[in-house]
Amino acid sequence: MNAHDVMWYGVLLTMTVAYLMALWGARAAKHHNVPQHAQWMIAACTLVGVWLLGYVTKQVMFGRDQFLGTSEEYWQYYIPVLVIHTSLAVTTIGLGIANLYTGLTGLRFGTGVGAMVNGVGRHRMQGKVLVGTFSGTIVTAYVVYVMLFRWVPSQ
Ligand code: HEM
Repeated sequence: MNAHDVMWYGVLLTMTVAYLMALWGARAAKHHNVPQHAQWMIAACTLVGVWLLGYVTKQVMFGRDQFLGTSEEYWQYYIPVLVIHTSLAVTTIGLGIANLYTGLTGLRFGTGVGAMVNGVGRHRMQGKVLVGTFSGTIVTAYVVYVMLFRWVPSQ
């Protein structure tokens, strides 16, 4: 297996593990276990940071991967999926930074006094949206991978 493939598998695997951690963290919050929720979300955010570093390194070392389909397939399928994937990924990172910030600065001590003032309602809503956008990011990441490396161009 060459370095390029190792980087790709590393990028996909890190992102998938971070996603499973975020799901586990959201489950802990649903059960009102805030210390565990915070731990899983901090771990998930750290792994997304590592992923971002790995992804940028891959792009710098190997450049963008080329889509092997026809030009028509490129504009009709590949680009729309890539735009959806990138938009979901950027939204997920934005919501993650916002929730990490509100969590660490205002919700450390759970839903007691001041939590409403510190935006626990908004935090929950943003967190639930993030779980949705993160799910979409993961699914489209695998679709992009299959399009780049398993797509059979039509004759
Ligand atoms: C990227 C980071 C984070 C995300 C995506 C996130 C997401 C969520 C979600 C989805 C919920 C609602 C769960 C539900 O009711 O179904 C929630 C609740 C909560 N989160 Fe976070 N969270 C993050 C970081 C944190 C951190 C760092 C803290 C505190 C140190 C925190 C404290 C809380 C608290 C206190 C609640 C309310 C729990 C309850 O209802 O008892 N969150 N969060």
